[in-house]
Amino acid sequence: MPSERADRLFRSAWSEAPAAVVSAPGRVNLIGEHVDYHGGHVLPVATQWRTAVAVGAGPDGLAAVSEHGAQVRGAWPPVRRGDWSDYVAGVAAELLADGPAAFPGLRVAVASDVPLGAGVSSSAALEVAAAGALAKLLGRSLAPRALAALAHRAETGFVGVPCGVMDQMAAALTPSGSALLLNCRTLETSAVAVRLDLVLAESGESHELRAGRYAERRREGEEAMTILRAVLPSLVYLTDVPPALLPRLLPSLPAPLDRRVRHVVGENQRALLAARALEADDFAAFGRLVDASHDSLRDLYECSTPRLDAIVAAARPLPGVLGARLVGAGWGGAVLVAAAPGEGEAVAARLCEEGALGLPAVRVVRPGAGLGA
Ligand code: GLA
Repeated sequence: MPSERADRLFRSAWSEAPAAVVSAPGRVNLIGEHVDYHGGHVLPVATQWRTAVAVGAGPDGLAAVSEHGAQVRGAWPPVRRGDWSDYVAGVAAELLADGPAAFPGLRVAVASDVPLGAGVSSSAALEVAAAGALAKLLGRSLAPRALAALAHRAETGFVGVPCGVMDQMAAALTPSGSALLLNCRTLETSAVAVRLDLVLAESGESHELRAGRYAERRREGEEAMTILRAVLPSLVYLTDVPPALLPRLLPSLPAPLDRRVRHVVGENQRALLAARALEADDFAAFGRLVDASHDSLRDLYECSTPRLDAIVAAARPLPGVLGARLVGAGWGGAVLVAAAPGEGEAVAARLCEEGALGLPAVRVVRPGAGLGA
């Protein structure tokens, strides 16, 4: 277990017990992609893979070790360094904004099962686990929701990634074994039981383009809203656009803004329909929505790649597969394959047999739980 490994790592690095150890999971978003920053609905599950952070007061500076051998010596109070320790340092900086620590340094040990580059938000798992552990060390009693908000501020501010709120909320709040239906406008949540199987196929594609493209999509969304406000002055989020008005509104938007808006409005509806389909055990309907999500991300949001499309196309006709789509931000990462109940292992094996795809990793996702010790 990562928590035990982080505890052991801490003890072997500093010959003392950590003051707190907290773990948080990676996430797989079932549907509702690129809608969180438009006030839409998302439906992530927590993965069985977790990151654990063990912390204790130190004599000076930030000293961080990971079980992969990475060691960092940084400043305290923390400053941005441009490496993985920024996720911990960012959360620490947020917590210290409410009052300085009563100790001159911080010791951190990190252990993780969360695969990197597999589209499961290893960064949010690290941030949320670090937020939980540091809050305990500082004697702050913060609910998981507050820890998620703090971790999100760390990511968008200190680390500087303009992401939506989904990943940190999923890592903090997802109920055990269920998906989290999250309204990203009100932050209301509800649990949706997941009684089908989930398989994640890693593409192995690098994320080089992702940061720039993600920021570009966010700018396009802002531009579209500026234009649409001429007709809908009360528009706050793109998901405020009533689907029935799309035919009338889209002609006022230049390409590609019209395509972006069609994706956001359609994907938000699909996420709500998918939650209903899961609740009704209507797996075929869920699979169709997953397929439609990918097609929209490919054609309208244009965040797929030929390789992701090829993996999706290879997965869809396999026995036991309900639907397949790119998952996470896109431009590389992974494909989520929804499989009929009990079919996950067989579907994963069938995908591995598709030798021409050369998939670096195919994993069965077992829905886990949000923040925990
Ligand atoms: C990344 C971001 C999330 C979300 C997804 C796309 O994972 O961190 O906030 O926007 O992309 O749905």
